[in-house]
Amino acid sequence: MAESIAFTNGAGRKMVYGELAPQIEALLAGETDLVANLANVAAVLKEAFGFFWIGFYIVKDGQLVLGPFQGPLACTRIAFDQGVCGHAYTTRHTVIVADVDEFPGHIACASASRSEIVIPILDRSGAVFGVLDVDSDNLDDFGQADADGLGRIVEIIQRTI
Ligand code: SME
Repeated sequence: MAESIAFTNGAGRKMVYGELAPQIEALLAGETDLVANLANVAAVLKEAFGFFWIGFYIVKDGQLVLGPFQGPLACTRIAFDQGVCGHAYTTRHTVIVADVDEFPGHIACASASRSEIVIPILDRSGAVFGVLDVDSDNLDDFGQADADGLGRIVEIIQRTI
């Protein structure tokens, strides 16, 4: 297994996502344990982008339950109809929130979080398996490059579940 990840420091996010994707693919190809793989994906994203919070919520017992993450302490359980994560679960689409204070029902796990992107993760049957949630302490920090780049990483994860 690779012990480090290579990316161009200071490059734009689109380029860095492009550099990370094949390395994440190789990382996941070498390990079958899902928790280990999700933990490493969170670590890689933290290292490459320094986002405030990155993590996974997994569908369990009719809720979204906290999985591997990087960042401050987070809410452990989210109902399907709650928050940005619940919205991504329900709509099955990527949700970008430029200002979390403007999103009705946003769950403030940490007051420093200002903007957010959540990508649903589907299993082989097409059901929502969980979500990838990335939070920033800057307003309006996520755009199409993140939706595409993180979406590509989620596709790689989906092939392992
Ligand atoms: N803000 C999210 C909850 C999870 S945390 O940000 C880690 C939401 O509204 O779904």
